[in-house]
Amino acid sequence: MNKKKLLALALGAVITMTAFVGCGSKDSASKNGDLKLTIYSGLMEDYMVKAVNEFQKETGIKTEAVRMSSGEILTRMRAEKANPKASVWFGGPADGFIQASEEGLLEKYESPSAKDILDEFKDKDGFWTGIYVGYLGFVSNEKLLKEKGIEAPKSWEDLLKPEFKGQVSTANPGSSGTAYTTLATVVQLMGEEKGLDYMKKLNGQVKSYEKSGTAPARLAGQGEAMVGLSFLHDGIKYREEGMKDLVMTAPVEGTGYEIGAVGVIKDGPDQEAAKKFVDWCLSKKAQELGQTVGSYQFLTNKDANAPEKAEELKDTKLIKYDLDWAGKNRTALVEKWNKSIK
Ligand code: F6P
Repeated sequence: MNKKKLLALALGAVITMTAFVGCGSKDSASKNGDLKLTIYSGLMEDYMVKAVNEFQKETGIKTEAVRMSSGEILTRMRAEKANPKASVWFGGPADGFIQASEEGLLEKYESPSAKDILDEFKDKDGFWTGIYVGYLGFVSNEKLLKEKGIEAPKSWEDLLKPEFKGQVSTANPGSSGTAYTTLATVVQLMGEEKGLDYMKKLNGQVKSYEKSGTAPARLAGQGEAMVGLSFLHDGIKYREEGMKDLVMTAPVEGTGYEIGAVGVIKDGPDQEAAKKFVDWCLSKKAQELGQTVGSYQFLTNKDANAPEKAEELKDTKLIKYDLDWAGKNRTALVEKWNKSIK
């Protein structure tokens, strides 16, 4: 195993964050009796905590959440299949949810609130429902680029230029939904053979494989990498939070995107509370919470207002991302990627 992969695995062992929040209102608490809920979440921590706090305040359901990357959530759900500890998977690209439903890890739930979600953003069989949409791209550090007299990458090919050698940060597609979106995008754009060959060449440019897909954008913001492969809304979050040198570009050939989803974990201990959570998080009000804490994804509820800060991303050229294919081929493609970069 090469050094970069070892680093990604080591980082994968870092303890995940748990959010415990206070009690809800008296009225809703009595309505919901003694309900409680445990959630696995792929969202940014601050967004996850905000959502959990609001849900608990509105319903009185005592809720606890753990942040993990998509691949970690899947691994956890598989390990707990006989005795699940959590009842909701909240946030993370839908490819992972498709794989989970194929493996019998998700419970079908067609929420009454799903009527407000456009058809293109929900599973026709009811295993998951989309809550947001994010576009993949290049998050670069303009100061570092200027120092070297280089322009921000504008195409997938640009990333292979000698000046980016050892300067690209990405995540491991086994642990990160973002990095899996990158892998599936490249393979869909170039075909399997050429796509894997491209990933092999990209490996030669990569400084580090991170556990989480938000880390590459952060590392670029901190000046530790010239370019991070992340969802572009994460770059905007870090720039708004003070990493002023960040500049966002997307490949001219087109880029992939995620439908961030929510779903009920099969046989989870709190099915009733889980369904209430899904109903709640599909609402306009809940979807608009993200932008109050710097999460600037586009939204799937037809009445929800997209964050103004996402405006700069709206003309991004997208590929016709085959989500179903990406979900069903996830394990096989990650395995092929592992072999190709050895
Ligand atoms: O929470 C930010 C975000 O980029 C989401 O839009 C996305 O679903 C998730 O992170 C992916 O995280 P990871 O790549 O770590 O699985």
